Amino acid sequence: MKKYLTEEQINWIDKMWENLDKKLSKVTLRSNDKFPMWTKNHMHDDTKKDGGINAWTNGFWPGLNWLMYVGTKNEDYRKTAETCEKLLDDAFKNFDRVSHDTGFIWRLASGPNYALTGNDESRVRQSLAASYLMSRLNPVGGFIRAWNKHSFHPDCSGVTIIDTMLNLPILYWASREYEDPRFKQAAIMHADNTLKNHLRPDGSIRHLVVRDSETGEVTGELGGQGYGIGSCWSRGQAWAVYGFVLSYIHTGKEEYLDAAKRAAHYFISAVCDTWIPMLDFRCPEEPVIYDTSAGCATACGLIEIAKVVPEYEKKLYIKAAMNMLMAIEKEHADWSEDTDFIVDKASGSYYGVEHQNENIIYADYYFAEAIYKLKGFEPLFW
Ligand code: GLY
Repeated sequence: MKKYLTEEQINWIDKMWENLDKKLSKVTLRSNDKFPMWTKNHMHDDTKKDGGINAWTNGFWPGLNWLMYVGTKNEDYRKTAETCEKLLDDAFKNFDRVSHDTGFIWRLASGPNYALTGNDESRVRQSLAASYLMSRLNPVGGFIRAWNKHSFHPDCSGVTIIDTMLNLPILYWASREYEDPRFKQAAIMHADNTLKNHLRPDGSIRHLVVRDSETGEVTGELGGQGYGIGSCWSRGQAWAVYGFVLSYIHTGKEEYLDAAKRAAHYFISAVCDTWIPMLDFRCPEEPVIYDTSAGCATACGLIEIAKVVPEYEKKLYIKAAMNMLMAIEKEHADWSEDTDFIVDKASGSYYGVEHQNENIIYADYYFAEAIYKLKGFEPLFW
């Protein structure tokens, strides 16, 4: 990867890793058993205190600590990650609240532990998470159902969500682990369905698609966390870029790489004036709602695309990833050791004013994951 970077960029990456470790080695001590989603006065909140042990975001803090542990071998990070991984066992017991997001949670909370140590408890946790996800497959429609209940739709049995692309890696893992193609087959059915119904011909994405859950026939689209029907929620676009290239990495199916590239080209052309994404790429200019988390997650996808495309294509993706990460860091990063967050100006959804232009754990996670990749650390966590 270094071959495609300037000296200035290589120095910047080294500096970012240093900054991450300097700050997070303090934060990990004060947030060691928390599950942060947002911050209050720039200090981590804790979803489990508000009954949110099943929150879809609960893998990001242990995942961030695993990333830092792999890159530094500082035991404090490992202790935090393991504490959170164990606390998450309560989430399995709450069946009605387990959603399509088991991959986001346990691929990051238990996947790295199992990859590093081979311990059986982490293997079982990932296996349970994969089985829960697999049980959400609608075999007639060939899709994985989103949520159990949600205000977006009175009946979620036929609803699919672009985000699920990031949950598929735990199914690919289960197929490899158990030498059983069923999990991979379910993931491929869902990815094919997402390619057909969520990715528009122009490369933009639909966040939510609605189907008849008896026949699988598509009946509509919902605006979801973006501006509305027909708009383009930038974090959903990020899930398409990163999710499709991950499905390509795990299956070798070229159509997923092409889908990731199409989604990436749309993202790059929509963001390249400032390199700091708005929450939606098709919405009125006011109010100004940024979403840096979309930029950080997309950068991770672009780096993976750069790794797998032929030589003369690589520069496009790596350059866009660097432009985005450097712009976000320059304008919106906080390296003070007295606060818990790293990246500012992330947003939950277009209509959720209480969490807009704020600090969100997954912006920090994906920023760190991008730097981890650029430093050349392994394994791939997804
Ligand atoms: N997976 C939910 C979100 O991206 O907000």
